[in-house]
Amino acid sequence: MTQLLAASPNPMPTAERYSHADIHLIRAPTASIIEHTWRSNHHAFGTTVALETYVAGLKNLDNQEFSGRKNHTIWILVPKTFNQDYEPDLDLILATAETYERPGLLATTQDGVKDVRAISVASVHTPERYRGNGYASVMMKLLWKEIQQMRHISFTFLYSAVGPTFYGRIGWAPKRSDEMLIPTEHVLPQAETDVIPPVVLQEITDQELPALLEQDAARLRQRMQTRLETASSKQTLVAPLPESNCVRWLLARARFTTEHILKLDQHQITAVGAKDSKSDSFVLWYPSLLEDKLFVLRWHLDEKLLRRDRDNTATALIKVLQQEAKKWKLSQAVIWNPEQSLADLAGLCIRYRYEKAIPSMGLVTSLEHDTDDVNWVLSEKYSWC
Ligand SMILES: CC(C)(COP(=O)(O)OP(=O)(O)OC[C@H]1O[C@@H](n2cnc3c(N)ncnc32)[C@H](O)[C@@H]1OP(=O)(O)O)[C@@H](O)C(=O)NCCC(=O)NCCS
Repeated sequence: MTQLLAASPNPMPTAERYSHADIHLIRAPTASIIEHTWRSNHHAFGTTVALETYVAGLKNLDNQEFSGRKNHTIWILVPKTFNQDYEPDLDLILATAETYERPGLLATTQDGVKDVRAISVASVHTPERYRGNGYASVMMKLLWKEIQQMRHISFTFLYSAVGPTFYGRIGWAPKRSDEMLIPTEHVLPQAETDVIPPVVLQEITDQELPALLEQDAARLRQRMQTRLETASSKQTLVAPLPESNCVRWLLARARFTTEHILKLDQHQITAVGAKDSKSDSFVLWYPSLLEDKLFVLRWHLDEKLLRRDRDNTATALIKVLQQEAKKWKLSQAVIWNPEQSLADLAGLCIRYRYEKAIPSMGLVTSLEHDTDDVNWVLSEKYSWC
C-alpha cells in the first residue's frame, strides 16, 4: 500500500484549511482568473467535452448580450491574504460561482405588478481537494449578502443540482417543478390530419424573438395582475422575465454544440420555435444534443381560443416539437411545468422533477418571508442558466 502511494506520479497536495473568518468573496478581477475558474470546474460541468473546447464554449457564451460584463459576474472565495493584483496564487481559489443580473417581475397586493431586477446564480463549484470544509456554504451566504447590498435587486434564483437542502437553508427556497417528456415516437391520440381546416404553423427565427417575447412579457404582467385579485396579502408572485437575451444565450450554447462539439454537417439552427398563424400561440425550443432532449423554452397557448381550437393548436405544436426532435436525432422533447390538460390531450404523464435543476427562489429584501408565500409564476426552461 505504502509502495503504491510512493509510486503515484502526481500525489495530490494536502489542501490547507482556512478558518471561515480568514476568507472572503470577491469578484474575479481579470480574464485570466476567470479562465482559471472555467478550467477548474471543467471536470464538474463539462466532462463530455475536451477541456479546450469547454473553455472555448464558455468564451463564446461570454460574448453574448445576456452575459455582458455589466450583467455577468464570476465570484471567487479566497483567503484574505490572496493577492489579486500581483501574481495571485490561483490554487488558493477555494470556491466559485457565477451570477447573471436580469429583468424580472414581482407582484404583491400592496404594490401591484412591478418590473424589477433579479440575479440568477450558476456554476457553484468547489475544487475537489477543498470540498467538505463548508466553503461553498460560506460562499453562498456571502453571495446572498452581496446581492442584498446591491439594493436594486428584488429576488434571486438558481437551479439546484444538489437537492433542496443545500441552497434552501441559505435562502434559495426549492420550488416544486414537474416535467412532461414527449417521446418522438409517441403517437398523439388526435392526429393533426383529423383537423379541418388544419392548423397552419410558421417557423420562428431569431429576428422575431424580441417582439414575440415583449408581447409574452406583457401578457405575463397581465396574468400576474389577474392572479393578484385572488391572492392573499401575504403572497408574493415572482417571475424571471421571458426576454430575447436569455433565450439567445441558450441558443448560443446549442449552436456551439452542433457546430464545434459535435461538428455536424447540418449544424445550423434556423428555426427556434413555431407559432400559430391565426392566434398568439407559440412554442420556443432549444436542442440540447448532449442530453438527448429538445427542451421547450417557452410554451404559450392563446387563452382566447375556443377549447376545440386550443386543442388542435396544442396538438400541432406538439407534433412540430416531435419533428424538430427527430431532425436532431433526439429521442424526446421536454416541457417544464405544463398544464394537466396538455398532458391529458397528449396522452402523456407529468412527473415530479426533484433531482436535477430544482428551481430555487429567494426574495432578497427579507429572509423572514415565509417561503411558501413566494410563488414562482411561469417556471419554464427559458430562465435556466
Ligand atoms: C456541491 C459543492 C459545491 C459543495 O461544495 P463544498 O465546499 O464541499 O460544500 P460545503 O462543505 O459548504 O457543504 C457541503 C454540503 O453539501 C452537501 N452536498 C455536496 N454535494 C452534494 C450533492 N451532490 N448532493 C447533495 N448534497 C450535496 C454535503 O452533503 C454537505 O452537506 P452538510 O453540510 O449537511 O454536511 C461541491 O461538491 C461541488 O463543486 N460539486 C460539483 C459541482 C456541483 O454539483 N455544483 C452544484 C451545482 S447546483
